[in-house]
Amino acid sequence: MNAFPLEPIEKAPVSELRKLQLERLQWTLQHAYDNVPHYRKKFDAAGVKPGDCRALEDLARFPFTTKADLRENYPYGMFAVPMDRIVRIHASSGTTGKPTVVGYTAKDIDTWSHVMARSIRAAGARPGDKVHVAYGYGLFTGGLGAHYGAERLGLAVIPLGGGMTERQVQLIQDFKPEIIMVTPSYMLAIADEMERQGVDPKKTSLRVGVFGAEPWTNEMRGLIEKRLSLNAIDLYGLSEVIGPGVAQECVETKDGLTIWEDHFYPEVIDPDTGSVLPDGEKGELVFTSLTKEALPVIRYRTRDLTRLLPGSARTMRRMEKVTGRSDDMIIIRGVNVFPSQIEELILKQPGLSAHYFLEITKDGPLDHLSVIVEGGERGAAALKHRIKSYIGISADVRIGAVERSIGKAKRVVDKRPK
Ligand code: DLL
Repeated sequence: MNAFPLEPIEKAPVSELRKLQLERLQWTLQHAYDNVPHYRKKFDAAGVKPGDCRALEDLARFPFTTKADLRENYPYGMFAVPMDRIVRIHASSGTTGKPTVVGYTAKDIDTWSHVMARSIRAAGARPGDKVHVAYGYGLFTGGLGAHYGAERLGLAVIPLGGGMTERQVQLIQDFKPEIIMVTPSYMLAIADEMERQGVDPKKTSLRVGVFGAEPWTNEMRGLIEKRLSLNAIDLYGLSEVIGPGVAQECVETKDGLTIWEDHFYPEVIDPDTGSVLPDGEKGELVFTSLTKEALPVIRYRTRDLTRLLPGSARTMRRMEKVTGRSDDMIIIRGVNVFPSQIEELILKQPGLSAHYFLEITKDGPLDHLSVIVEGGERGAAALKHRIKSYIGISADVRIGAVERSIGKAKRVVDKRPK
């Protein structure tokens, strides 16, 4: 049981939630239309006015927003309030070109702290817990998002940020945090360092890990839980929508992530046609912010693939664990492959570690996949075989050193000529 009480809206009847969402949606559409020229132009071109949204389903008539829209309006063109109301700026580093810039008013920071506090509570925080934050601080939203949320909940925050792995281990030993917030891949690097220092990862003070910012499979969850003897709970979010704290798995059910739907309205669409799919069907996740002032987002296409599920531990709907992005899909000889599928097979294979990456090269006219993983040659041969029989493609499996990430792991290295 949570010792922190839930907010009434977390257990409210669905009808109450829908009513609140509609009011907030109508406000958001009007706010975006009145204050962001880009939205006004797009709504006008699509022939819709904010007043056309009379029911939640009407949202489907409004145009999508993509990362490209934010890039075109770099840096501040999508802001809906003047700069004298902005109190924070974050940015997500694009792999190519300009970063995506996001802004917050004081009320937005308050909202963000609030949903992050809710997330950390849902993950199983108890009064008196200490929270070790190993997400990066800075333009990345992970560190400060976790920090403000934990502080809002009244917990003692230990703000380490990413990196200096030896010191992370030392301070976990000395400060005895009950909760750690970090990317799952960096958690494994910290566990390796514990072992190197002769510390048993199972015997630390850690009880809960709040892991996100990158795809990770349920196999990875199983591995981390076993290795560190803690509850590994999923936290999801993205800068454009607010940062971490858009959706959070509840420790009592561990059955996907509850979307904080009173602040972020989800849709799942067919990525090819853009049509809205019924709950339960897998497609691309799209979010509309419901309470944001500085950067309202209307139907923002996340590229993350998942499905919407009915509420379980809370009234709000859940999303299935995101195990891939449409951008991460690799096509090898006509077969679609996601890194998460390979991850599942690696973790099921004795003799291989969870440190891996994929390399795509050109083999004549065809794409070729190599898996580089740490472990033994026997495991590599077995993995090659499994990839052939479960996914249906031929891949090379090489045993080699894999560089540890201190934040998001880079799982795909594309060496094809551009
Ligand atoms: O990664 C925010 C965050 C920080 C989330 C800390 C959770 C914890 P961005 O850098 O903008 O923001 O990257 C967002 O990361 O669209 C997903 O593709 C991926 N992602 C985030 N959380 C998860 C997760 C932060 N739990 C992008 N599972 C998103 C899978 C995730 N993918």
